[in-house]
Amino acid sequence: MNHSVTNTTTSTSATAKVMGKERTTAGERAGIPPRRMDFEFSDDTTHYWYGNNAFLTTFWTTLSALFPEGETFFVDSVKNYRHIITNPTLKDQVSGFIGQEAMHCKEHETFNSMAEKQGLPTDKLDKELGVFFRLFRKYIPQKIQLALTVALEHYTAILAEQLLREDIHQEMFTDHEAKKLWMWHALEESEHKTVAYDVYETANGDYFTRVATMLIATIFFAGVVVSGHLRLLWADGSLFKWKENWKGLTFLWGWKGLFPRLAKQYFDFYRPSFHPNDHDTAQLLDDWREKMLQDGGLLADQIKNPALARAQNNIAAA
Ligand SMILES: [Fe+2]
Ligand SMILES: [Fe+2]
Repeated sequence: MNHSVTNTTTSTSATAKVMGKERTTAGERAGIPPRRMDFEFSDDTTHYWYGNNAFLTTFWTTLSALFPEGETFFVDSVKNYRHIITNPTLKDQVSGFIGQEAMHCKEHETFNSMAEKQGLPTDKLDKELGVFFRLFRKYIPQKIQLALTVALEHYTAILAEQLLREDIHQEMFTDHEAKKLWMWHALEESEHKTVAYDVYETANGDYFTRVATMLIATIFFAGVVVSGHLRLLWADGSLFKWKENWKGLTFLWGWKGLFPRLAKQYFDFYRPSFHPNDHDTAQLLDDWREKMLQDGGLLADQIKNPALARAQNNIAAA
């Protein structure tokens, strides 16, 4: 089924305020502005920065370890189809998507270096995933590479929505810089959640390939994340902290835990008529853009793009 490409720009957002200016980038026009960040993690970064819990901190760090290679793969798989896109809005969205993911890679590499210094082998995990993706690029058809990106972008989108929507996550961050990184990444994952899907549809991607790839990706990446997580816990000397690990496990998988709460949104993907915009996050994103970019907001000291800095000033003046 073909969905029309949706312009995610909103009239009240910071991004929209930039649109009236002459020098806007393609991503800004599409409501997917790559924002230059420069997070700083030091020796002072709280060791257990999520919930003061080793299990949960190493869980998120495992995901972070997989982002640089993972998101580079996402970008490449979309770039393979750039030449067939004629819709100007989707062209702009693809530019924004590539810019945002590139910045995520850079900032998560900084974060991962901090984790390495704290004794967690994030580099190893990333390199191993890189070997897998190199083989995948070489031997698997580009259509399935794109379907894998669509599947994994669905994961990041629903996880991002939960981070933005549920206050519990804000309360769990015990390190301010880590909170900024993860909330910024969540915002942008949600902003560009339709892009890979719309490119897949433009490339006449079929339903069966989409859901079969999702099924295999779920099984494979569950294995990658669980094994990576166990290795980080081992490296941290926390593998046998039963009480703390049980607490973390319950937070993720218990009745009404993080993953069970995502189940409905995850299974929506298997509907033939599914589109990422079925999960309406427009207002949520507007609220968070304002919360993050306004004077004194979570990212106010981070915004490096001149255009976004202007937008930030517009919000402050409004
Ligand atoms: Fe990302
Ligand atoms: Fe993404």
